[in-house]
Amino acid sequence: MRLSASELSRFGEDLGRQLRAPAVIGLSGELGTGKTTLVQAICRGLGARARATSPTYALVHHYDAGPVPVYHVDCYRLRRPDDARDLGFDDMTRERAIVLIEWPERAGSWVPPLDRHFQLAYDADPARRVVNEVAHV
Ligand SMILES: Nc1ncnc2c1ncn2[C@@H]1O[C@H](COP(=O)(O)OP(=O)(O)O)[C@@H](O)[C@H]1O
Ligand SMILES: [Mg+2]
Repeated sequence: MRLSASELSRFGEDLGRQLRAPAVIGLSGELGTGKTTLVQAICRGLGARARATSPTYALVHHYDAGPVPVYHVDCYRLRRPDDARDLGFDDMTRERAIVLIEWPERAGSWVPPLDRHFQLAYDADPARRVVNEVAHV
């Protein structure tokens, strides 16, 4: 898909409305390709309470969508996969949360199995982004 910013927002809001906990969603792609924008749209679709701003300092942000815990984890700043050991992925899985993970590949084997995985990329048109779902076998 090649999506404008508003199309990407609509896509994320629809996805958020459809999501049922527990769910782990991975978002991969270079800086600026729209991962955080997509997380914010998914959170709107979920009706999550706090705004999911990009976690510049904290790697994990916690939100509530009614009774469902929602976590936004940005692994960009992990220096090595083992730094993901203390992010709390085990607890999130135990809580049957909705977990939205930017740069999941940076957390190595600490990242829980992804139910959905989206790859974002720049498009030749600077106002669009390429969004593809990665098939997991
Ligand atoms: N089609 C588009 N989809 C998403 N973001 C877009 C699009 N076109 C331009 N942008 C801009 O690209 C930037 C994406 O930033 P962000 O979501 O923080 O990316 P990432 O989290 O992948 O680093 C935003 O400034 C946004 O306004
Ligand atoms: Mg981001």
